[in-house]
Amino acid sequence: MKTPRSFPPTDASQSGPRIHATVEVGLSDGRGYPISIGEGLLDLPSVWSACIDSRQVVVVTNTTVAHLYLASVVSALKALAKEVIEVVLPDGEAFKDMAHLGTILDSMMQAQVDRSSTVLALGGGVVGDMAGFAASCYQRGVGFVQAPTTLLAQVDSSVGGKTGVNHPLGKNMIGAFYQPKAVVIDMSVLSSLPGREFSAGLAEIIKYGASLDEGFFNWLEESMDALVARDPASLAYAIERSCQLKAMVVAEDERESSGRRALLNFGHTFGHAIEAGLGFGTWLHGEAVGCGMVMATRLSQDLGQVQADDASRVLELVKRAGLPTQPPKWSAQTYLDWMRHDKKAAAGRIRYILLTGIGQAEFRPVDDGAVSASLQAMTA
Ligand code: NAD
Ligand code: GLY
Repeated sequence: MKTPRSFPPTDASQSGPRIHATVEVGLSDGRGYPISIGEGLLDLPSVWSACIDSRQVVVVTNTTVAHLYLASVVSALKALAKEVIEVVLPDGEAFKDMAHLGTILDSMMQAQVDRSSTVLALGGGVVGDMAGFAASCYQRGVGFVQAPTTLLAQVDSSVGGKTGVNHPLGKNMIGAFYQPKAVVIDMSVLSSLPGREFSAGLAEIIKYGASLDEGFFNWLEESMDALVARDPASLAYAIERSCQLKAMVVAEDERESSGRRALLNFGHTFGHAIEAGLGFGTWLHGEAVGCGMVMATRLSQDLGQVQADDASRVLELVKRAGLPTQPPKWSAQTYLDWMRHDKKAAAGRIRYILLTGIGQAEFRPVDDGAVSASLQAMTA
């Protein structure tokens, strides 16, 4: 895919609330929804009146985000005479489970929330995945709006309708495809995001350029220093282009049935092995994906699909984003065992997202022998 126009396309130098861009997610049967990207949006009643017409709104968030942003969102909703139910979950991936899904549903039952209500997810990917799953199953489905507050959630998890919770035997194993009615991305909230979390979001942005859009990858190479410095104009463009690319792929393969959507998991096969092998939470998801992209690119190079120069470009960009590039020094067999556990492995056969050039990827199995040789070289 080619980047369609010159960049950066927006002048984000002005202050005050405003929308920089709107990206449409177009789905089959006339379904779809807007992604609004801007600054100062969470406090604006007009933003919420545009996407929520329910009388009752269930705002799901966590303790960290509640402290920072819940009061202003609730105040904007109450200005529209909404009945607002607040559900504040403990913070962390460890609480993305059936018990805390139950907490959301219990609160909705106790507040006598009806079928015309809307669940509003205010938080990162953990809150978004859980709130979306609750919206999908409460009374067989109520309205759902995403207000993502981490960079990772703004460029990836809030778009595309994957929702769910973890099971003790596997991550994201229980869930549903359930699309939001709107996504409201307020870039202002990124000012409070810790540096490690910010870099984790950059990993997903690099993923889009490396696997889908050479022009965007080139732009990321030019702009990485500005992005790391959280320059608003650069961030606005990076978020917009990432959302466009995700929207395009989701429109082509909403339920990951053709293999097209699987390309969005570039770096994730190795990354999930690192996350699981080190123990979830030791490396952030985006950190593991960053290193996983370097590993998948190296495998692509060893298979003769990518030039050494291009592999170095991926490694360098991941490093400049503040992400780890050196995989844990485990045996090749350890990696293979963890990767076989991943839910993307079909009947125990691991499939890899490999680069065939910068901005191009394919999804296919590779012989264990070739993967082992590559892993041994990477971890020597
Ligand atoms: P997260 O939701 O745990 O958020 C990271 C941390 O940042 C948390 O401590 C959170 O409280 C804090 N935080 C959030 N917004 C903040 C802000 N503005 N200022 C300060 N702190 C803030 O993690 P994440 O990286 O956003 O999401 C990871 C989750 O997303 C995983 O569970 C993963 O499985 C899921 N995910 C889902 C999809 C999807 O398509 N549904 C895609 C990628 C990842
Ligand atoms: N994050 C991968 C997907 O949404 O399919």
